[in-house]
Amino acid sequence: MASVLYFLGKRIWGYLELSTAKTTIFAQILGSKTRQVFLMNKIVIAIDGYSGCGKSSTAKEVAKQLGYTFIDSGAMYRATALHFLNLNLSPLRPEDVEIGLRSLQISFQLNPETGKQETYLNGVNVEKEIRTMRVSERVSEVATVKEIRAELVAQQQQLGQKKGVVMDGRDIGSVVFPDAELKLFMTADVETRARRRQIELQEKGEQVSLEEIKLNLENRDQVDSNRSESPLIKVADAIEIDTSTLTFSQQVDQILDLVKKVTIN
Ligand code: DC
Repeated sequence: MASVLYFLGKRIWGYLELSTAKTTIFAQILGSKTRQVFLMNKIVIAIDGYSGCGKSSTAKEVAKQLGYTFIDSGAMYRATALHFLNLNLSPLRPEDVEIGLRSLQISFQLNPETGKQETYLNGVNVEKEIRTMRVSERVSEVATVKEIRAELVAQQQQLGQKKGVVMDGRDIGSVVFPDAELKLFMTADVETRARRRQIELQEKGEQVSLEEIKLNLENRDQVDSNRSESPLIKVADAIEIDTSTLTFSQQVDQILDLVKKVTIN
């Protein structure tokens, strides 16, 4: 591979590298504030890991910088949990699961004002509601049910069919996209995760004690890692990223560097 163009501008500089072997064209343009990476060969990036270690926000920023689609698979489980709560259905009763799945429609839409992707349940924007403690307390149970997982996994695979996707969750590298070109496993110590989650909730006007958040995270880690259906595991070919001492931009940069390696080699 040879670097064929190196350009430095007033505010923007970029370089273009050509890999003739794989006809990979890698162009990187750096602006003063934003950086975008355009790749000809789009890949699937699977990000798994424990609750609250910043998977979604990191995945979202990585997708933005790559011009990829970001899919928050946890939001789909959360919307399903909310649906079951709204209809007073038990995910543990097979007849309720059938009713719940039959009337479940989840979609994502970009909010033009914020530029952020939001989750819709049967046509209603539920982005805020699915992040409340009420839903967090029920979602792990919903995610243990085989039929629910089968339905959501099928939808996720459909969304990633054309590649150019960053998806985060618990079973992305193991079940949803076992052939993903880049698999990451994110971790962080529980104290750090609880503090970050508390700030997120405070920003949304929900006051929850650190202890309550910690208990919820530990409980979800326990259920997610020990359930019989697609438990959270670090697959052999996943690269672990411990975010406990990393800043947000360090996390994003580490992943972009890995993407660069995978797509150029
Ligand atoms: O990523 P999150 O915390 O928003 O996910 C909410 C819950 O959904 C989490 O406790 C586990 C479950 N989940 C899952 O089982 N599989 C996924 N791919 C994503 C989330």
